[in-house]
Amino acid sequence: MKDRKLLSTFKGNNNYAVYNWFHFTEAYSRELVREIILKNPVKTKSPILYDPFCGTGTSLLVGKEFNYECYGTDISYLMYLVSKGKCLGFNEKKLAELLPQVLKIKKESITLNKEYEWIKQYFYGLNLQELLKIKEKIDNIKEDEKFFFYIVLLHTIEIVTRAKKQGADLKMRKLPLLDVLQKYQRTFDLFLKEYIKFNAKNKSEKEIEILNESCLTFYKTHDKLFDYIICSPPYLNKTEYTKRFGTELAILGKETILQNHLGHIKASQKQETKTKEWIYLKYFKKQLAQIKTEEYKHEEYDAHEYFKQLEIFIEESAKHLKKQGIFAVVIAGGVIGNSMFEIYDYVQDLYLLNKLEIVDIKTNREITCNQNRTLNLGKIKEFTIIGKKN
Ligand SMILES: C[S@@+](CC[C@H](N)C(=O)[O-])C[C@H]1O[C@@H](n2cnc3c(N)ncnc32)[C@H](O)[C@@H]1O
Repeated sequence: MKDRKLLSTFKGNNNYAVYNWFHFTEAYSRELVREIILKNPVKTKSPILYDPFCGTGTSLLVGKEFNYECYGTDISYLMYLVSKGKCLGFNEKKLAELLPQVLKIKKESITLNKEYEWIKQYFYGLNLQELLKIKEKIDNIKEDEKFFFYIVLLHTIEIVTRAKKQGADLKMRKLPLLDVLQKYQRTFDLFLKEYIKFNAKNKSEKEIEILNESCLTFYKTHDKLFDYIICSPPYLNKTEYTKRFGTELAILGKETILQNHLGHIKASQKQETKTKEWIYLKYFKKQLAQIKTEEYKHEEYDAHEYFKQLEIFIEESAKHLKKQGIFAVVIAGGVIGNSMFEIYDYVQDLYLLNKLEIVDIKTNREITCNQNRTLNLGKIKEFTIIGKKN
């Protein structure tokens, strides 16, 4: 891929089987992760890779291609399911055996919880019932194979929904009534074929563990050291990842929206401020003081909390690296009110303070920042920063 701009977007994955099983705009590409690993080889015989914000599992899949032991965490249940569905090893015979059970759905209707009723507009009633019933069947599977069935379901939802994902929202699209069971079966056949091919090429025998928890919790409870930590944390002030996955989440019966959990107060414990000297204050104190409190601090989101957690995350990552280990982060700042936060220098400072030698830093693309979606405030860098622990 020649175009660097595409490296940090999902577009780079469109032509890769398995990588493209679930479209997530905020994902980065296989090629970006491969580039990081190939340009920064480690000496360890059996490298271990960790993606703290694993999302749709791009880093983990690349790790699998390299036959690395891999760990991933994501706080979102949806992303956890997607990563597991794409990365785990499945028993092909078992999958084929389980399929008829999954598709043997009951006649009685399933009642949607009140909080999810809004999704009804985006499905034909019959289709929604079929999807809910398939989901119920998958819930009952005990083996890991269930994650393969979930990802087939997520793809099927995308095919049969009348919701069109547009920006952060859902719009309506015209669509005839489709046969959910047939679409599910076809997606299953296609994914199984692609899975078999992928695994024949990448005979990974190493463990892949994916947990549905915050990386900060993971760091507190695991003392494993990694050769590679490769990730893209949530960007500043993206309080609500998106409503785009509202339909999928409602069918799964879990969350209603995906939140940015760095800076998300309810979901994370506030970080203690007593003993720590926060570096972000050196860079952004004045800027934060100038903007109206309600712009950076509301019921669920706090910009100060975002920076604090980012700093703790980088500190913990450095601690969890082996000597000569590689820490690669794809990140950008953001906008709050009418203030732009360029974090290019700040993040470099955090690397150096945590004794990470910066071996490479590249701008992937420049992001235009708008106030209230109209007034152009300027541009910030989205960059990849790679550090080595000495
Ligand atoms: C930019 S996306 C990462 C995309 C990923 N690189 C990919 O290729 O799919 C950030 C992810 O971090 C997750 N997340 C946010 N806060 C988290 C936390 N504290 N711990 C773990 N995951 C978190 C979000 O749910 C989201 O999936």
